[in-house]
Amino acid sequence: MKVLEMPGDKSISHRAIILGSISEGKTVIENCLISGDVLRTIDCFKALGVDIKIKGSTVTIIGKGLKGLRPPKTPLYCGNSGTTVRLISGVLVAQNFCSEVEGDSSLNKRPMDRIILPLRLMGGNIKGRKDKLPPLEIKSTNKLKGINYELPIASAQVKSAILLASIYGEGPTTIIEKAPSRDHTERMMKYFDGNIKKMDKKIIVKPVSKLNGKEVYVPGDISSAAYFIVGALILKGTELLIKNVGINETRTGLIEVLKKMGGKINIVNLRINNNEPMADIHVKYSKLKGIEIKGDIIGKLIDEIPILAVAATMAEGKTIIKDARELKYKETNRIKAMVNELRKMGADIEELEDGMIIGGRGILNGGKLKSYNDHRIVMALSIAGLCAQDKIYFDSTECIKISFPNFFNELDSFMG
Ligand code: S3P
Repeated sequence: MKVLEMPGDKSISHRAIILGSISEGKTVIENCLISGDVLRTIDCFKALGVDIKIKGSTVTIIGKGLKGLRPPKTPLYCGNSGTTVRLISGVLVAQNFCSEVEGDSSLNKRPMDRIILPLRLMGGNIKGRKDKLPPLEIKSTNKLKGINYELPIASAQVKSAILLASIYGEGPTTIIEKAPSRDHTERMMKYFDGNIKKMDKKIIVKPVSKLNGKEVYVPGDISSAAYFIVGALILKGTELLIKNVGINETRTGLIEVLKKMGGKINIVNLRINNNEPMADIHVKYSKLKGIEIKGDIIGKLIDEIPILAVAATMAEGKTIIKDARELKYKETNRIKAMVNELRKMGADIEELEDGMIIGGRGILNGGKLKSYNDHRIVMALSIAGLCAQDKIYFDSTECIKISFPNFFNELDSFMG
């Protein structure tokens, strides 16, 4: 049996750095993901005056408290990281200094009106290019007010921007979440002694005068594990154990779906660390069958749809993915990217306005593929390449550094 371990969860790493930076005292983050996106969050908070030290995968932060950040000397650069720009904006709107946040050419095209709108309702002074794109300009605010806000889309980034701002509000904030999205911010705010309650679809935050620094262990990233889970399911004779993976139920949609497709996946050795469940995932090669995936589960597997599409090419029968319009607003339009590239590899795949239909042919060809500078596209297609009759080539694979710098080494161990 092959045994692998994944780097720390990207979403949890971002949140631990942000909350550690605005807490009082020391936060020590173990198994933190050190990748392009997370380094952008670290650099932004360093530029805001926070003392952050990295040693291997341990990050130590001496928090500045809720109001101790200092004005940045230059615009805060978020690179390719949507999580950084959206979450940090929730903190910056509450500060009594001006700041600017910007991204790379891809991030500067991603929609920010989704955070600008609710943060303005809270009294935040924030505006974007054409009122919806980065760079964002944030002006000093004296006081934010609490709001009642129904999230129009299932987005953890939007939810988290509001949650972070609501720590600074004058009164309570209530967020109504119709469809679930990852809840790491809620769990970590509670762990850092924030005042946050979840009641069915409502999240209620009451402002606090301080948060307290903590020790955080970041579980392995289930979105990184996803590539190897699918790899093990589609490569004949494989048995794999991935140790110490975060299995927060707002992130395990892929496992639910793959099990329904006939995947032999078992969760063992369940534990809880700093409010987040973690376990080992045991996977065996399985004959998969196509199914229809739509509705609320989409928010629980949004980042895993590219690799799910790869699994579907190896399943018997049709897989239909719907209600996944949000994929168009990621690092690239992931619906188009996967349809184009899997089609080049000979897959029977059709683009829908909000998803795709994949006919499981069970055969893929090699060829020259485009990366779209999107880490999840490159990693998903690399797994597809394991089943291809010939080699695949990418124009570039640099982008994997965004979330999984060691991906190709892990892939070698997986294949070895
Ligand atoms: C993330 C939320 C998701 C996800 C992204 C990370 C987060 O984005 O796609 O990779 O850490 O909050 P949306 O909130 O835009 O759906």
